[in-house]
Amino acid sequence: MRNLDLFNSNPCNAIQTIGDGVVFLSEFALSNEQDLLTSLHQLVALSPFTKMYTPSGLAMSVTTTSCGLAGWVSDAYGYRYSKKNPSTNLPWPQMPESFLQLAQQAADTAGYKNFVPDSCLINRYQAGAKMSLHQDKNEKDFSQPIVSVSLGLPATFLFGGLAREDKTIRLPLEHGDVVVWGGPARLFFHGVLPIKAGKHPGLGEQRINLTFRKAL
Ligand code: SIN
Ligand code: FE2
Repeated sequence: MRNLDLFNSNPCNAIQTIGDGVVFLSEFALSNEQDLLTSLHQLVALSPFTKMYTPSGLAMSVTTTSCGLAGWVSDAYGYRYSKKNPSTNLPWPQMPESFLQLAQQAADTAGYKNFVPDSCLINRYQAGAKMSLHQDKNEKDFSQPIVSVSLGLPATFLFGGLAREDKTIRLPLEHGDVVVWGGPARLFFHGVLPIKAGKHPGLGEQRINLTFRKAL
């Protein structure tokens, strides 16, 4: 049972504004779940998850891959977008139609019209993996929102403000949930607490996050 009563909500609780510019769409990705999961498995076969290293040389606890025109990469040269997968030296796989449709419908529902993502970062969290508080700021155009899709094991999402020290709210995320943020919240700090061990019926012992962005 979710406990989000402190937030404004519509009668069926499916769409909740959780702050200026931040919208939570409960189970929004489930309507086309099978196509999404099929595309995800095909993508990962073409472009497997790899470990990324921060510019200071620390291994991230998630493993990642991407699809679309640009993929987010990190190494000794910094955080950035690249048109090629550095592990294969090939272009990233095309963004599947089911991914694009989901991202556009979610952005539209959240009030961000005409979102055309050119990048989808796919993060894989195994038990214990986390994402420290950070801003998404390697994109060129901050007028475009971020669309973040949760699949598999549950997570606790942290959402703060423009400064790292700002108070964060905790948002429980489950399989199929989507969070969209943009406008005044576009550069807000956010992160994910360590994932608890468990087994999801469809995805097993992992959480997958799809982050759609207009990067270039
Ligand atoms: C991220 O901000 O890069 C990932 C967010 C998530 O996994 O929910
Ligand atoms: Fe992020």
